[in-house]
Amino acid sequence: MDFSQTKAMFHLPEGMIYLDGNSLGPLPKAAAARVQSTIQDEWGEMLITGWNKAGWMDQTTQLADRIGRLIGAPAGTMVLGDTLSIKVYQALASSLEMRPGRKVILSDSGNFPSDLYMAGGLVGSLKQGHVLKVVAPEDVAENINEDVAVLMLTEVGYGTGRIHDMAALTSLAHGAGALAVWDLAHSAGAIEVDVTAAGADFAVGCTYKYLNSGPGGPAFIYVAPQHVDGLRPALSGWLGHAAPFAFDQDYQPGIGIQRMRVGTPPVLQLASLGASLDIWDQVKMADVRARSIELSELFIELVEKSCPSLTLASPRDPRARGSQVCFRFGQGYAAIQALISRGVIGDFRAPDVMRFGFTPLYIDEGDVRCAAEILAEIMATDAWDTEAFRTMAKVT
Ligand SMILES: Cc1ncc(COP(=O)(O)O)c(C=O)c1O
Repeated sequence: MDFSQTKAMFHLPEGMIYLDGNSLGPLPKAAAARVQSTIQDEWGEMLITGWNKAGWMDQTTQLADRIGRLIGAPAGTMVLGDTLSIKVYQALASSLEMRPGRKVILSDSGNFPSDLYMAGGLVGSLKQGHVLKVVAPEDVAENINEDVAVLMLTEVGYGTGRIHDMAALTSLAHGAGALAVWDLAHSAGAIEVDVTAAGADFAVGCTYKYLNSGPGGPAFIYVAPQHVDGLRPALSGWLGHAAPFAFDQDYQPGIGIQRMRVGTPPVLQLASLGASLDIWDQVKMADVRARSIELSELFIELVEKSCPSLTLASPRDPRARGSQVCFRFGQGYAAIQALISRGVIGDFRAPDVMRFGFTPLYIDEGDVRCAAEILAEIMATDAWDTEAFRTMAKVT
Protein backbone atom coordinates (compact mmCIF):
# COMPACT_ATOMS: atom_id res chain seq x y z
CA MET A 1 0.00 0.00 0.00
CA ASP A 2 1.36 3.41 -0.97
CA PHE A 3 0.51 5.64 1.97
CA SER A 4 1.94 8.73 0.24
CA GLN A 5 -1.33 8.73 -1.70
CA THR A 6 -3.46 8.83 1.44
CA LYS A 7 -1.15 11.42 3.02
CA ALA A 8 -1.85 13.69 0.05
CA MET A 9 -5.56 13.49 0.88
CA PHE A 10 -5.16 15.22 4.25
CA HIS A 11 -4.64 18.85 5.06
CA LEU A 12 -1.59 19.01 7.33
CA PRO A 13 -0.46 22.53 8.27
CA GLU A 14 2.91 23.53 6.79
CA GLY A 15 5.78 22.74 9.12
CA MET A 16 3.72 20.59 11.49
CA ILE A 17 4.29 16.93 12.34
CA TYR A 18 1.02 15.68 13.73
CA LEU A 19 1.45 12.79 16.17
CA ASP A 20 -1.94 13.27 17.82
CA GLY A 21 -4.36 11.56 15.45
CA ASN A 22 -5.12 9.27 18.38
CA SER A 23 -6.87 12.25 20.00
CA LEU A 24 -8.23 14.21 17.05
CA GLY A 25 -7.63 13.16 13.45
CA PRO A 26 -6.64 15.83 10.89
CA LEU A 27 -8.89 17.28 8.20
CA PRO A 28 -9.37 15.23 5.03
CA LYS A 29 -8.95 17.72 2.18
CA ALA A 30 -12.30 16.72 0.70
CA ALA A 31 -14.13 17.33 3.99
CA ALA A 32 -14.27 21.11 3.75
CA ALA A 33 -15.99 21.05 0.34
CA ARG A 34 -18.26 18.18 1.46
CA VAL A 35 -19.42 20.04 4.54
CA GLN A 36 -19.75 23.26 2.55
CA SER A 37 -21.94 21.47 0.02
CA THR A 38 -24.03 19.91 2.80
CA ILE A 39 -24.51 23.38 4.24
CA GLN A 40 -25.23 25.25 1.00
CA ASP A 41 -26.79 22.71 -1.35
CA GLU A 42 -28.60 20.60 1.23
CA TRP A 43 -29.36 22.62 4.38
CA GLY A 44 -29.44 25.90 2.42
CA GLU A 45 -31.52 24.79 -0.56
CA MET A 46 -33.49 21.83 0.74
CA LEU A 47 -34.06 22.89 4.34
CA ILE A 48 -36.28 20.36 6.12
CA THR A 49 -36.74 18.29 2.95
CA GLY A 50 -33.02 17.41 3.19
CA TRP A 51 -33.89 14.65 5.65
CA ASN A 52 -35.48 12.75 2.76
CA LYS A 53 -34.00 14.30 -0.38
CA ALA A 54 -30.39 14.23 0.78
CA GLY A 55 -30.82 11.02 2.80
CA TRP A 56 -29.57 12.60 6.03
CA MET A 57 -31.34 10.08 8.24
CA ASP A 58 -29.82 7.03 6.53
CA GLN A 59 -26.28 8.33 6.89
CA THR A 60 -26.17 7.02 10.46
CA THR A 61 -26.33 3.41 9.30
CA GLN A 62 -24.74 3.72 5.84
CA LEU A 63 -21.56 5.31 7.18
CA ALA A 64 -21.60 2.98 10.19
CA ASP A 65 -21.49 -0.02 7.85
CA ARG A 66 -18.34 1.40 6.23
CA ILE A 67 -16.72 1.62 9.68
CA GLY A 68 -17.97 -1.91 10.27
CA ARG A 69 -15.60 -3.19 7.59
CA LEU A 70 -12.67 -1.92 9.69
CA ILE A 71 -13.75 -3.73 12.87
CA GLY A 72 -15.33 -6.94 11.56
CA ALA A 73 -18.95 -5.87 12.09
CA PRO A 74 -21.41 -7.13 9.45
CA ALA A 75 -23.68 -4.66 7.66
CA GLY A 76 -26.70 -3.73 9.74
CA THR A 77 -25.06 -4.21 13.14
CA MET A 78 -23.84 -0.64 13.74
CA VAL A 79 -25.32 2.82 14.02
CA LEU A 80 -23.79 6.28 14.49
CA GLY A 81 -24.89 9.06 16.81
CA ASP A 82 -24.36 10.81 20.15
CA THR A 83 -21.02 10.71 21.95
CA LEU A 84 -19.05 7.69 23.01
CA SER A 85 -19.91 8.19 26.68
CA ILE A 86 -23.61 7.89 25.77
CA LYS A 87 -22.97 4.75 23.74
CA VAL A 88 -21.08 3.21 26.69
CA TYR A 89 -24.10 3.92 28.88
CA GLN A 90 -26.49 2.31 26.39
CA ALA A 91 -24.38 -0.83 26.03
CA LEU A 92 -23.93 -1.20 29.79
CA ALA A 93 -27.57 -0.58 30.64
CA SER A 94 -28.68 -3.20 28.12
CA SER A 95 -26.08 -5.67 29.40
CA LEU A 96 -27.25 -5.34 33.00
CA GLU A 97 -30.81 -5.85 31.92
CA MET A 98 -29.80 -9.00 30.04
CA ARG A 99 -28.16 -10.43 33.18
CA PRO A 100 -30.72 -9.88 35.96
CA GLY A 101 -29.52 -11.22 39.29
CA ARG A 102 -25.87 -10.43 38.56
CA LYS A 103 -24.54 -7.30 40.20
CA VAL A 104 -20.98 -6.68 39.08
CA ILE A 105 -19.69 -4.48 36.26
CA LEU A 106 -16.04 -5.49 35.93
CA SER A 107 -13.57 -2.98 34.49
CA ASP A 108 -9.95 -1.96 34.89
CA SER A 109 -7.97 1.00 36.17
CA GLY A 110 -6.55 1.59 32.68
CA ASN A 111 -10.01 2.32 31.32
CA PHE A 112 -10.91 5.81 30.17
CA PRO A 113 -12.41 7.65 33.17
CA SER A 114 -15.62 8.57 31.31
CA ASP A 115 -16.46 4.87 30.91
CA LEU A 116 -16.06 4.37 34.65
CA TYR A 117 -18.03 7.54 35.42
CA MET A 118 -20.88 6.45 33.15
CA ALA A 119 -20.96 3.04 34.81
CA GLY A 120 -21.01 4.69 38.24
CA GLY A 121 -23.83 6.98 37.15
CA LEU A 122 -25.87 4.08 35.82
CA VAL A 123 -25.37 2.06 39.03
CA GLY A 124 -26.50 5.10 41.04
CA SER A 125 -29.67 5.53 38.97
CA LEU A 126 -30.62 1.86 38.97
CA LYS A 127 -30.32 1.51 42.77
CA GLN A 128 -30.46 -2.29 42.46
CA GLY A 129 -27.25 -3.05 44.33
CA HIS A 130 -24.95 -3.15 41.29
CA VAL A 131 -21.28 -2.44 41.88
CA LEU A 132 -18.54 -1.24 39.60
CA LYS A 133 -15.45 -3.32 40.32
CA VAL A 134 -12.22 -1.81 38.98
CA VAL A 135 -9.10 -4.00 39.00
CA ALA A 136 -5.60 -3.61 37.54
CA PRO A 137 -5.47 -4.41 33.80
CA GLU A 138 -3.39 -7.54 34.41
CA ASP A 139 -5.89 -8.81 37.01
CA VAL A 140 -9.00 -8.69 34.80
CA ALA A 141 -9.00 -12.37 33.79
CA GLU A 142 -8.78 -13.70 37.34
CA ASN A 143 -11.69 -11.50 38.44
CA ILE A 144 -14.14 -12.82 35.87
CA ASN A 145 -16.58 -15.01 37.77
CA GLU A 146 -20.28 -15.80 38.06
CA ASP A 147 -21.07 -12.56 39.91
CA VAL A 148 -20.06 -10.54 36.86
CA ALA A 149 -22.92 -9.31 34.70
CA VAL A 150 -20.73 -7.48 32.23
CA LEU A 151 -17.07 -7.00 31.47
CA MET A 152 -16.49 -3.43 30.28
CA LEU A 153 -13.05 -2.73 28.85
CA THR A 154 -11.28 -0.42 26.44
CA GLU A 155 -9.32 -2.67 24.11
CA VAL A 156 -6.38 -0.29 23.63
CA GLY A 157 -5.70 1.65 26.82
CA TYR A 158 -5.63 5.41 26.29
CA GLY A 159 -2.78 5.86 28.77
CA THR A 160 -0.09 3.51 27.53
CA GLY A 161 -1.56 1.89 24.43
CA ARG A 162 -1.65 -1.56 26.09
CA ILE A 163 -3.91 -4.00 24.20
CA HIS A 164 -6.30 -6.34 25.98
CA ASP A 165 -6.89 -9.69 24.30
CA MET A 166 -10.47 -9.10 23.24
CA ALA A 167 -11.20 -12.66 22.05
CA ALA A 168 -9.66 -14.35 25.10
CA LEU A 169 -11.31 -12.08 27.68
CA THR A 170 -14.68 -12.20 25.92
CA SER A 171 -14.48 -15.97 25.88
CA LEU A 172 -13.69 -16.02 29.63
CA ALA A 173 -16.62 -13.66 30.25
CA HIS A 174 -18.96 -15.87 28.25
CA GLY A 175 -17.66 -18.96 30.04
CA ALA A 176 -18.74 -17.34 33.32
CA GLY A 177 -22.11 -16.35 31.86
CA ALA A 178 -21.23 -12.64 31.59
CA LEU A 179 -21.43 -10.26 28.64
CA ALA A 180 -18.59 -8.18 27.17
CA VAL A 181 -18.72 -4.51 26.17
CA TRP A 182 -15.65 -3.26 24.30
CA ASP A 183 -14.67 0.38 23.87
CA LEU A 184 -12.80 0.64 20.56
CA ALA A 185 -11.97 4.38 20.74
CA HIS A 186 -8.25 3.65 20.28
CA SER A 187 -8.75 0.54 18.14
CA ALA A 188 -11.01 1.47 15.21
CA GLY A 189 -8.66 2.59 12.44
CA ALA A 190 -5.64 1.86 14.63
CA ILE A 191 -5.33 -1.92 14.85
CA GLU A 192 -7.00 -4.93 13.27
CA VAL A 193 -10.24 -5.70 15.10
CA ASP A 194 -12.81 -8.40 14.49
CA VAL A 195 -15.76 -8.00 16.82
CA THR A 196 -17.50 -10.97 15.21
CA ALA A 197 -14.60 -13.40 15.60
CA ALA A 198 -13.99 -12.14 19.15
CA GLY A 199 -17.65 -12.71 20.03
CA ALA A 200 -18.10 -9.19 21.47
CA ASP A 201 -21.63 -8.56 22.68
CA PHE A 202 -21.37 -4.79 22.32
CA ALA A 203 -18.68 -2.53 20.90
CA VAL A 204 -18.57 1.25 20.96
CA GLY A 205 -16.15 3.82 19.66
CA CYS A 206 -15.65 7.35 18.43
CA THR A 207 -14.95 8.71 14.98
CA TYR A 208 -12.98 11.87 15.76
CA LYS A 209 -9.69 10.06 16.48
CA TYR A 210 -8.34 7.64 13.86
CA LEU A 211 -11.47 7.97 11.71
CA ASN A 212 -11.06 11.74 11.18
CA SER A 213 -14.67 12.96 11.40
CA GLY A 214 -13.58 16.18 13.12
CA PRO A 215 -14.08 17.56 16.64
CA GLY A 216 -17.34 16.35 18.14
CA GLY A 217 -17.96 13.73 15.43
CA PRO A 218 -20.54 11.05 16.32
CA ALA A 219 -19.83 7.77 18.12
CA PHE A 220 -20.78 4.29 16.92
CA ILE A 221 -22.31 1.29 18.62
CA TYR A 222 -22.24 -2.34 17.52
CA VAL A 223 -24.65 -4.90 18.94
CA ALA A 224 -24.12 -8.60 18.23
CA PRO A 225 -26.89 -9.79 15.89
CA GLN A 226 -28.13 -12.47 18.31
CA HIS A 227 -28.88 -9.85 20.98
CA VAL A 228 -30.28 -6.89 19.15
CA ASP A 229 -33.90 -7.90 18.66
CA GLY A 230 -34.32 -8.65 22.36
CA LEU A 231 -32.87 -5.36 23.58
CA ARG A 232 -34.89 -2.76 25.42
CA PRO A 233 -32.99 0.47 24.88
CA ALA A 234 -32.33 2.35 28.13
CA LEU A 235 -32.19 5.65 26.24
CA SER A 236 -35.45 5.32 24.39
CA GLY A 237 -35.29 8.41 22.23
CA TRP A 238 -37.77 9.06 19.47
CA LEU A 239 -35.44 8.16 16.61
CA GLY A 240 -34.95 4.69 18.09
CA HIS A 241 -38.73 4.19 17.91
CA ALA A 242 -40.12 1.75 15.34
CA ALA A 243 -42.11 4.60 13.74
CA PRO A 244 -40.75 7.97 14.91
CA PHE A 245 -43.09 9.92 12.70
CA ALA A 246 -46.18 8.16 14.00
CA PHE A 247 -45.61 10.22 17.17
CA ASP A 248 -47.03 7.45 19.33
CA GLN A 249 -47.38 8.09 23.05
CA ASP A 250 -45.88 4.65 23.71
CA TYR A 251 -42.39 3.55 22.86
CA GLN A 252 -41.85 0.62 20.51
CA PRO A 253 -38.20 -0.19 19.76
CA GLY A 254 -37.11 0.13 16.14
CA ILE A 255 -36.02 -2.80 14.02
CA GLY A 256 -32.62 -4.22 14.94
CA ILE A 257 -29.81 -1.72 15.46
CA GLN A 258 -32.12 1.22 14.68
CA ARG A 259 -33.28 1.05 18.31
CA MET A 260 -29.89 2.24 19.52
CA ARG A 261 -30.45 5.62 17.90
CA VAL A 262 -31.49 8.31 20.35
CA GLY A 263 -32.11 11.72 18.79
CA THR A 264 -31.35 13.89 15.77
CA PRO A 265 -28.07 12.92 14.06
CA PRO A 266 -25.26 15.48 13.52
CA VAL A 267 -25.62 15.92 9.77
CA LEU A 268 -22.62 18.22 9.24
CA GLN A 269 -20.28 15.89 11.14
CA LEU A 270 -21.63 12.95 9.17
CA ALA A 271 -20.66 14.82 6.00
CA SER A 272 -17.05 15.20 7.14
CA LEU A 273 -17.00 11.57 8.29
CA GLY A 274 -18.16 10.55 4.79
CA ALA A 275 -15.19 12.40 3.25
CA SER A 276 -12.82 10.59 5.62
CA LEU A 277 -14.35 7.18 4.94
CA ASP A 278 -13.78 7.74 1.22
CA ILE A 279 -10.09 7.47 2.14
CA TRP A 280 -10.56 4.59 4.60
CA ASP A 281 -12.48 2.62 1.94
CA GLN A 282 -9.24 2.42 -0.07
CA VAL A 283 -7.05 0.81 2.59
CA LYS A 284 -6.75 -2.54 4.33
CA MET A 285 -6.41 -2.57 8.10
CA ALA A 286 -3.65 -5.20 7.86
CA ASP A 287 -1.52 -2.73 5.85
CA VAL A 288 -2.30 0.15 8.23
CA ARG A 289 -1.36 -1.95 11.25
CA ALA A 290 1.89 -3.25 9.72
CA ARG A 291 3.00 0.28 8.83
CA SER A 292 1.95 1.68 12.21
CA ILE A 293 4.15 -0.93 13.91
CA GLU A 294 7.11 -0.03 11.68
CA LEU A 295 6.74 3.67 12.45
CA SER A 296 6.25 3.11 16.20
CA GLU A 297 9.26 0.78 16.43
CA LEU A 298 11.43 3.33 14.64
CA PHE A 299 10.29 6.11 17.00
CA ILE A 300 11.01 4.01 20.10
CA GLU A 301 14.46 3.08 18.80
CA LEU A 302 15.40 6.70 17.99
CA VAL A 303 14.02 8.16 21.25
CA GLU A 304 15.63 5.51 23.46
CA LYS A 305 18.97 6.17 21.78
CA SER A 306 18.86 9.93 22.21
CA CYS A 307 16.66 10.68 25.27
CA PRO A 308 17.90 8.73 28.32
CA SER A 309 15.59 10.64 30.69
CA LEU A 310 12.47 9.25 28.99
CA THR A 311 11.20 5.77 29.88
CA LEU A 312 8.93 3.76 27.64
CA ALA A 313 5.47 3.49 29.23
CA SER A 314 3.92 1.48 26.40
CA PRO A 315 4.40 -2.28 26.03
CA ARG A 316 7.66 -3.04 24.24
CA ASP A 317 6.11 -5.89 22.27
CA PRO A 318 4.40 -4.23 19.28
CA ARG A 319 1.69 -6.91 19.26
CA ALA A 320 0.68 -5.81 22.76
CA ARG A 321 0.64 -2.10 21.84
CA GLY A 322 -1.89 -0.04 19.91
CA SER A 323 -0.99 2.69 17.44
CA GLN A 324 0.49 5.01 20.05
CA VAL A 325 3.77 5.21 21.89
CA CYS A 326 4.05 6.71 25.37
CA PHE A 327 7.04 7.79 27.36
CA ARG A 328 7.17 8.81 31.01
CA PHE A 329 8.96 11.97 32.04
CA GLY A 330 8.41 13.91 35.29
CA GLN A 331 8.03 17.18 33.38
CA GLY A 332 6.14 15.54 30.52
CA TYR A 333 3.61 18.36 30.23
CA ALA A 334 6.31 21.01 29.76
CA ALA A 335 8.22 18.78 27.33
CA ILE A 336 5.10 18.31 25.19
CA GLN A 337 4.52 22.09 25.17
CA ALA A 338 8.12 22.62 24.04
CA LEU A 339 7.58 20.08 21.26
CA ILE A 340 4.34 21.74 20.19
CA SER A 341 6.15 25.09 20.01
CA ARG A 342 8.54 23.43 17.54
CA GLY A 343 5.71 22.05 15.38
CA VAL A 344 5.61 18.47 16.72
CA ILE A 345 2.18 17.77 18.12
CA GLY A 346 1.84 15.07 20.74
CA ASP A 347 -0.19 15.21 23.93
CA PHE A 348 0.12 14.71 27.66
CA ARG A 349 -1.85 12.46 29.96
CA ALA A 350 -1.53 12.98 33.71
CA PRO A 351 0.51 12.34 35.72
CA ASP A 352 3.61 12.06 33.52
CA VAL A 353 2.83 10.46 30.15
CA MET A 354 3.94 11.95 26.83
CA ARG A 355 1.80 10.36 24.16
CA PHE A 356 2.49 10.08 20.42
CA GLY A 357 0.14 8.57 17.85
CA PHE A 358 1.39 6.87 14.67
CA THR A 359 -1.19 7.05 11.95
CA PRO A 360 0.18 5.72 8.65
CA LEU A 361 -2.53 7.37 6.58
CA TYR A 362 -0.62 10.66 6.93
CA ILE A 363 2.55 10.05 8.99
CA ASP A 364 5.66 8.74 7.23
CA GLU A 365 9.19 7.76 8.14
CA GLY A 366 10.54 11.27 7.47
CA ASP A 367 8.05 12.67 9.99
CA VAL A 368 9.10 10.11 12.61
CA ARG A 369 12.80 10.85 12.17
CA CYS A 370 12.25 14.60 12.27
CA ALA A 371 10.01 14.40 15.39
CA ALA A 372 12.56 12.22 17.21
CA GLU A 373 15.36 14.65 16.32
CA ILE A 374 13.44 17.66 17.66
CA LEU A 375 12.53 15.76 20.84
CA ALA A 376 16.20 14.81 21.35
CA GLU A 377 17.25 18.43 21.00
CA ILE A 378 14.60 19.65 23.46
CA MET A 379 15.66 17.06 26.03
CA ALA A 380 19.39 17.64 25.54
CA THR A 381 19.06 21.41 26.00
CA ASP A 382 16.29 21.36 28.67
CA ALA A 383 14.36 23.66 26.34
CA TRP A 384 11.17 22.53 28.11
CA ASP A 385 12.28 24.12 31.39
CA THR A 386 10.43 27.45 31.21
CA GLU A 387 7.52 28.93 33.17
CA ALA A 388 5.42 29.21 30.01
CA PHE A 389 5.75 25.52 29.12
CA ARG A 390 4.93 24.43 32.67
CA THR A 391 1.63 26.38 32.80
CA MET A 392 -1.22 23.95 32.17
CA ALA A 393 -3.92 24.74 29.61
CA LYS A 394 -7.54 23.65 30.07
CA VAL A 395 -7.30 20.86 27.46
CA THR A 396 -4.13 18.80 27.59
C1 LIG B 1 -11.44 5.19 25.46
C2 LIG B 1 -12.38 6.34 25.50
N1 LIG B 1 -13.65 6.15 25.94
C3 LIG B 1 -14.53 7.16 26.02
C4 LIG B 1 -14.19 8.45 25.66
C5 LIG B 1 -15.20 9.54 25.77
O1 LIG B 1 -15.67 9.91 24.52
P1 LIG B 1 -16.76 11.08 24.30
O2 LIG B 1 -16.11 12.35 24.73
O3 LIG B 1 -16.99 11.06 22.81
O4 LIG B 1 -17.96 10.75 25.08
C6 LIG B 1 -12.89 8.69 25.16
C7 LIG B 1 -12.50 10.05 24.75
O5 LIG B 1 -11.40 10.31 24.34
C8 LIG B 1 -11.96 7.62 25.11
O6 LIG B 1 -10.70 7.80 24.69
